[in-house]
Amino acid sequence: MTENLQKALNGQITAELWSANLYLSMSFYLEKEGFSGMARWMRKQSAEETGHACAIAEYMAKREAEAKVDKVDVVPQGWGSPTEVFEHALEHERHVSRLIDELVHLASEEKDNATRDFLWGFVREQVEEEANFLNIVNLMKKAGESGILFMDAKLGERQS
Ligand SMILES: [Fe+2]
Ligand SMILES: [Fe+2]
Repeated sequence: MTENLQKALNGQITAELWSANLYLSMSFYLEKEGFSGMARWMRKQSAEETGHACAIAEYMAKREAEAKVDKVDVVPQGWGSPTEVFEHALEHERHVSRLIDELVHLASEEKDNATRDFLWGFVREQVEEEANFLNIVNLMKKAGESGILFMDAKLGERQS
């Protein structure tokens, strides 16, 4: 694997870990506000992001590339409402989708088909991520103030 691509994949590991911390920060905020179901949902989401970082590291090891845990920047904390939290998360996932697209472009430039193939999994995953968050944002808006506890209970059912 080229040096360039290794650097870019390590950059994505850092981005995934940043996402994990962002969702943990959101989870702490939701917990403090008393929405323990939503907080649980965000904790699971945080773990999923750590899983993405690990999946990239596993792939890199197979290709004899060196995966690194780099410095992860501070994440935002404190939001105005649970709806604001999920809107922010949706925006963030759209940003991550663009990062993955850039990685696919780079892998194409470097003529690394194996990495392109590996990244398609992430392209598909981002479609799901954006759809999940969009769905929750829409439901939260429909539920409104009076339906917020229902949404909390519903999201608290998340298993994995
Ligand atoms: Fe991710
Ligand atoms: Fe994500």
